[in-house]
Amino acid sequence: MAASLVCNGRTVCDVGCDHGKLSLYLVKSGRAQRVIATDINRMPLQKAIDLFAEHGISDKAEFYLTDGLQNITETADITHVVIAGLGGDTMAQIIENAPFIRENQVQLVLLPAQSGDKIRQYLYTSGFDITSEHTVGENKKFYSVITAVYSGNVKECDAYDCYIGKSENCEGADAKGYFEMVLTRLGKKAKGLMIDTGSCPQDILDAIEKTKELIAKK
Ligand SMILES: C[S@@+](CC[C@H](N)C(=O)[O-])C[C@H]1O[C@@H](n2cnc3c(N)ncnc32)[C@H](O)[C@@H]1O
Repeated sequence: MAASLVCNGRTVCDVGCDHGKLSLYLVKSGRAQRVIATDINRMPLQKAIDLFAEHGISDKAEFYLTDGLQNITETADITHVVIAGLGGDTMAQIIENAPFIRENQVQLVLLPAQSGDKIRQYLYTSGFDITSEHTVGENKKFYSVITAVYSGNVKECDAYDCYIGKSENCEGADAKGYFEMVLTRLGKKAKGLMIDTGSCPQDILDAIEKTKELIAKK
């Protein structure tokens, strides 16, 4: 799903490329002219290098053993950054540490494995516009793929914006599964806060109610 949201990419960064399958698809499908694939761990990066070699298209990729987008110096041709399968906190850190994303208004395609609330909060409060969300289900787990671009418009956000955001526009079984998963998370968050502090912020209680209404409507 994440890769299918890349259109007409020139150089596309695949951060946390692991086995390199997403990068390979991007190039083979023509969605990217070339890729920069990064991973913080040597073994997965080597798998990606080997995969491109097996397919005879090593000339279409550069591989970096690095944290996020550190040490990527040639950034002018980068049109998209895809980060799939990392946590929302880590994604926010990676984006924050890569100023070229803001300067060149690079298209972001983000599939948080967890902490979707953290990456939405970062995007809203750091001047990015969330342009779309697409919910997807796999092995009884549900995710939302977020696309975003820097505009400089800093926005206030409450718990509903952070936990649900534009995924509220999604339809179908995967969307419902995603909202139900978020509702469970919000419930656990509220319970934890009640135990730890004796109270729960109103915006979390409101988000729980709005998410219930959303599920009932879909
Ligand atoms: C769940 S896998 C991601 C799979 C792949 N992106 C996909 O969609 O199929 C997470 C990968 O991210 C890498 N990773 C974790 N933190 C990272 C970071 N800060 N920078 C780069 N890679 C990272 C891990 O080594 C691992 O290979």
